[in-house]
Amino acid sequence: MPGVTGLRKAFAERFDDEMRFFKGWLHRPKAVGSIIPTSSVTARKMATVIDPSSGLPVLELGPGTGVITKAILERGVRPQDLHTVEYAPEFVTHLRRTFPDVDVIHGDAFNLNETLRDMPGTMFDSVISGVPLLNFPVATRVRYVEDLLDRLPLGRPIVQLTYGPKSPVPPGRGSYSVEHFRFVLRNIPPTQLWIYRRRKPN
Ligand SMILES: C[S@@+](CC[C@H](N)C(=O)[O-])C[C@H]1O[C@@H](n2cnc3c(N)ncnc32)[C@H](O)[C@@H]1O
Repeated sequence: MPGVTGLRKAFAERFDDEMRFFKGWLHRPKAVGSIIPTSSVTARKMATVIDPSSGLPVLELGPGTGVITKAILERGVRPQDLHTVEYAPEFVTHLRRTFPDVDVIHGDAFNLNETLRDMPGTMFDSVISGVPLLNFPVATRVRYVEDLLDRLPLGRPIVQLTYGPKSPVPPGRGSYSVEHFRFVLRNIPPTQLWIYRRRKPN
């Protein structure tokens, strides 16, 4: 059990994260999507899709304050096998300080050929995405998923967080399957998790 000092420190760190997140939201409300960081329950659930024994690196998109990054590492992924892509410079600085051995890339998750130019052809075990998709046209969301699936072995998942009731990437628009993974009530706002995989050829 943590003592009073430990509890005070944990509370202060959590409060710091929430303030940092709220400030990020004030600057870029559409890109950040929520005013409160993802809950650890959601983060842990997302990380369960990873196969830490696959020998492949993991790609995280939109890590923000790093709640999901922490859950990915706790899942058993080595820091040097985790590549995270974050758009907002203030989150990038915070993530590099908090996770010095993780590859924190400052870039755009919608332009991965440019953002991942230093690792061409890399295949990932899975993709964990917290990037808000609902502000983009459906065609852009479909392209996002198709591009990511080209970077995964057949059948391996993208897990996507969203606050809307439906899959942000509709079925029937490309060569991917859509699976409802979890509704997480213990998140503010409550969150839906969706999984996308490359559909096997008939
Ligand atoms: C809903 S928040 C999730 C953050 C994280 N789960 C947390 O709890 O701190 C969305 C995150 O995606 C980032 N983001 C938005 N658009 C992005 C893009 N095109 N490329 C990379 N990151 C992006 C935002 O800056 C923000 O950190």
